Amino acid sequence: MDKLLIQGGKRLSGEIAISGAKNAALPILCAGLLTAGDLELSNVPHLHDVATMLKLLGQTGLKVDQDGERVTLNGSAITKLEAPYEMVKTMRASILVLGPLLARFGEAKVSLPGGCAIGSRPVDQHIKGLQALGAEISIEGGYIYAKCKKLKGTRIVTDMITVTGTENLLMAATLAEGETILENAAREPEVTDLAHLLVAMGARIEGIGSDRLVIQGVPELHGARHAVISDRIEAATFLCAVAAAGGDITLRNTRTDIMDAALDKLREVGLEMTIGDNWIRAQMNRRPTPVSFRTTEYPGFPTDMQAQFMAVNTVADGASRVTETIFENRFMHVQEMNRLGAAIETDGNTAFIKGVEQLVGAPVMATDLRASASLVIAALAARGETLVDRIYHLDRGYDRMEVKLSAVGADIRRIK
Ligand code: EPU
Repeated sequence: MDKLLIQGGKRLSGEIAISGAKNAALPILCAGLLTAGDLELSNVPHLHDVATMLKLLGQTGLKVDQDGERVTLNGSAITKLEAPYEMVKTMRASILVLGPLLARFGEAKVSLPGGCAIGSRPVDQHIKGLQALGAEISIEGGYIYAKCKKLKGTRIVTDMITVTGTENLLMAATLAEGETILENAAREPEVTDLAHLLVAMGARIEGIGSDRLVIQGVPELHGARHAVISDRIEAATFLCAVAAAGGDITLRNTRTDIMDAALDKLREVGLEMTIGDNWIRAQMNRRPTPVSFRTTEYPGFPTDMQAQFMAVNTVADGASRVTETIFENRFMHVQEMNRLGAAIETDGNTAFIKGVEQLVGAPVMATDLRASASLVIAALAARGETLVDRIYHLDRGYDRMEVKLSAVGADIRRIK
């Protein structure tokens, strides 16, 4: 299992190019199931989760051509309407094939995802929504069996805001008969990116970017070209790294208009930023100011940045409070950060952080994707050597993070 060896205390300086967004690319790849035409995608990030999704889609009969960050999909010969447990258990986003397969072929068999390190993460809203669209769904032997003649548009109000739930129902509704209204829809930029692709494929969607999506079903969708949006979480992760370790970096290929919540907090931290349309220059020459926040749905503070900001808070000049409201168990990084000398206590879904002058390197274990990134940030700020174990989590969602960090002066090495 690969590990990362980090010598902390180096200032970061130079340029980093941000990749396409994981959480936009995954649903967008699944949209390839909705059409017999070619989907020509660019800015697809180089990630384990993308490779897993392409393998899963390939098993259905979807034709996949990959050339670096370009992926072309063709869905004219899909034969296997299934997502097996072996694949779904390694990546929950596999559930995103359910809506498209059902809508286009009237049938799908998808494994239930099961538990997850950050919370129980049920998919009941996906299932209830598809049932409301007329699907017959049963659960047997750990699998969701879904069937329908033709999905029929209806009004769906989800019990909570769900990102992949919205994406699954949105994709299904594009091929349903008549009008579907999705209330309480997720407004995350990744949902919006998917909606823009679907429109390019011939879908009729109104209210894109809002919490009310109105979809007029069409009989079929056609091929399209699309560039995946820039990863706002990857960009904000590197900004946290410079906020914690100090330095002067410029990020390229960013979408600064979808990062307000994180950028506001980084300003509070004391990061000096100059922001262009698609670049950010960030300078940090002092100890961070602590920031308190609660995670919420977009446009609020993203849960996917909670751990990385906590890493910044561990070395800040004072105390802070972080409340996680989206997932019930997303504090697995706390004990690992405390091994580096951080002073964090938790009470339920709130963490209380007392900033310390200096973290000290130690062996730590990555537990999930964003927790891994937060440990890398803490290690960059720490004195001495940190060994981060189980970085396969990191590889799932960050495009060659250690390569990008060493290019800006970090002392970070992958150990096979
Ligand atoms: N929920 C339910 N029932 C459902 C769906 C969701 O109870 O049917 C609950 C979840 O358990 C959670 C909350 O609703 O407590 C929100 O979950 P959501 O469905 O929005 O999460 P997701 O779609 O499974 C996506 C991202 C996550 C990100 C969350 C929240 C993808 C592939 N994943 O997950 O990304 O944290 O939205 O923004 O888009 C990551 O990239 O590290 C990551 C975990």
